[in-house]
Amino acid sequence: MISNTLCLATRPDGPLRTEDLTIVEVELPPLARGDVLVRNRWLSIDPSIRIRLNAETPDGYLPPFPVGEPLSGLAIGTVIESADPEHPVGQLVSHMHGYREHAVVAAEGSTLGGYGGLTAIDPGELPEQWFLGPLGSSGLTAYAGIVGVLGVSPDDIVWVSAAAGAVGSLAAQLAKARGARVIGSAGSPTKVRYLSVELGLDSAFDYHCESITRAVAHAAPDGITAYFDNVGGDHLAAALGNMRPGGRIAMCGAISGYDLTAPAPGPANLFQFVAKGLRMDGFRAGSFNHLMPDMQREIGGYLRSGRIRFDERVFHGLDAAPAAMVAMLNGENTGKTLVRLDTPETSIDTDERP
Ligand SMILES: NC(=O)c1ccc[n+]([C@@H]2O[C@H](COP(=O)([O-])OP(=O)(O)OC[C@H]3O[C@@H](n4cnc5c(N)ncnc54)[C@H](OP(=O)(O)O)[C@@H]3O)[C@@H](O)[C@H]2O)c1
Repeated sequence: MISNTLCLATRPDGPLRTEDLTIVEVELPPLARGDVLVRNRWLSIDPSIRIRLNAETPDGYLPPFPVGEPLSGLAIGTVIESADPEHPVGQLVSHMHGYREHAVVAAEGSTLGGYGGLTAIDPGELPEQWFLGPLGSSGLTAYAGIVGVLGVSPDDIVWVSAAAGAVGSLAAQLAKARGARVIGSAGSPTKVRYLSVELGLDSAFDYHCESITRAVAHAAPDGITAYFDNVGGDHLAAALGNMRPGGRIAMCGAISGYDLTAPAPGPANLFQFVAKGLRMDGFRAGSFNHLMPDMQREIGGYLRSGRIRFDERVFHGLDAAPAAMVAMLNGENTGKTLVRLDTPETSIDTDERP
């Protein structure tokens, strides 16, 4: 069978351009025992893909994608042929062979850092794509950081960066639901309004301001106790400067550095760790798979009751995947960026809500 897949055409030199990616027809291999053929329905568009488009990735992280080879990422689809009795034809599954229309997936295949193995999904009355978003990897990442790493409680004053995005919006609302005072930052006045008005955060600011350090100090004059870092760089330095003694940082990502062509300088104020007895834990969602049932129970409950809101930006068709990725990296999304594949046309919906 021939099917379309997204490949790296040229390595980006700085910010990603749509022409760095290309769609190629590939011949799918026949199924071996334990394999299934999946027709993908939803693709998750994630910042981590940008790291793997570089010629080298950080030690300990997933390897770079070779030029001309298919990309991979999280996806949801339907089994249309099966050589594995656990995953019959018609079953809805999530897996890590996204960025393509069809995928041959081994039931016992590899994962993306512990997450993304072939998994059956029963969405019930819920939107199936939520199992890539608030009830899937975005939710698990937010839950791992807020609950598993930071252990946020009502005594906390928490700052969440990139707070209007998929992980950030969930992390900020989860911290709020757990009783903390929450500050969110994002990249535009519209997003700042979204954080304050739609998500109900206690305070929000646009990081394109004169001083991020002063913006955090203004929002939390007595300091913050916890920081959920999606951005790194100047945001991390601002967090260190505003931490109360004994403060904690959950390092989830460092998107400000993903498309830099030279390593970014580290924060100049690292001595704050010593002076204030701070702690910083980096984490990957895949190390917190054991929290998935708790996460789905808690976030699922908040979604059903309306306490947590989740927004999506949906692009249609594999042809739109390069534009989806560039838009997400440029901050044009609010909430989760997805590509939907079961519609024939290539078009863009903005801020489509489930
Ligand atoms: N540790 C893990 O297991 C794990 C898993 C998933 C994701 N992550 C990390 O979590 C973070 C958020 O991921 P996501 O999937 O939820 O993406 P997202 O937040 O939905 O989209 C990325 C957002 O990052 C912001 N951004 C881009 N460049 C920036 C810059 N230079 N400075 C500040 N903000 C910038 C943009 O929003 P603005 O308009 O606000 O700039 C953009 O909307 C990323 O760092 C990602 O790598 C980690």
